[in-house]
Amino acid sequence: MIDTPTILLVAPTFYDVSYSINPWMDPAGWARDPAGMHGRARASFDALRQALGDSGFAVEVAEGAPGQPDMVFPANAAVVLDGRAVLARFRYPQRRGEEAPFAAIFDDLRRRGLIDSVETLPEGCYQEGAGDCIWDAQRGHFWAGYGPRSSREAAQAMSCHFGQEVVALELATEQSYHLDVCFCPLAGGEILYYPPALSEAALATLRARVPASQRIEATADDLRHFSVNAVSREEHVVMTRTTPHLRHELGRRGYRLHEVDLSPYMMSGGGAYCMTLRLDRTSAPVRRAAAA
Ligand code: ARG
Repeated sequence: MIDTPTILLVAPTFYDVSYSINPWMDPAGWARDPAGMHGRARASFDALRQALGDSGFAVEVAEGAPGQPDMVFPANAAVVLDGRAVLARFRYPQRRGEEAPFAAIFDDLRRRGLIDSVETLPEGCYQEGAGDCIWDAQRGHFWAGYGPRSSREAAQAMSCHFGQEVVALELATEQSYHLDVCFCPLAGGEILYYPPALSEAALATLRARVPASQRIEATADDLRHFSVNAVSREEHVVMTRTTPHLRHELGRRGYRLHEVDLSPYMMSGGGAYCMTLRLDRTSAPVRRAAAA
């Protein structure tokens, strides 16, 4: 496996918004100007790639597949830790066609030595990758979202598979259909999250594990801007064009924001985090940042 910060992206060649499986998706909006939207999606993709490079990531770009527009969201394709990739099982038929092309992409990454193994989950549960199973490097465990997409049982399966603790959080709304829409562990140990997206039990779990000084509550406006769906590394945070609230809140905690116009992807219900997949995450303890 690799030991430098590395991110997988999937080129937007076959990207569009042609169906709707979450409340943000707007196929009618896309259909008004498909060629124009496609050009804007390409420009946004290039800007994201640049922002990730500026944040210290090496970037791998894989090709998508025709008829599989949502492959531009590789966070949903697998969970990767310690060089081991576990491939996703998608809930909706619209996305199941991604499983075979993603298996080929991961096989290629393995052959090239970027990851060590590619495995699948036991049948009988859905699991939509790192969008619903987020590694918290500061705490050394996964946070797993379940409900709209991934199954409750997937958390246990992931825990057995990786031999790591997985803390399951129930998602309470279709609007936050993946955990990464409403929940983001930042490199300094804070959790940026949108409270109404989590069930009462999930909120209690979060509060029991994360002190108030490290909980940053996102607003409905932050969520609508898809800014909770962010990529965090050291002081860098890559996200969609954001709100005054988050600029202020993250800025005062010492983060440097890289804002990218990702509106063509927000039309599909996605932001910066779900367009990426970290390939170098390890369970080795990180040095804890000083408490804020
Ligand atoms: N249209 C995609 C879907 O509904 C968007 C996925 C975005 N991924 C994410 N992890 N939030 O599945």
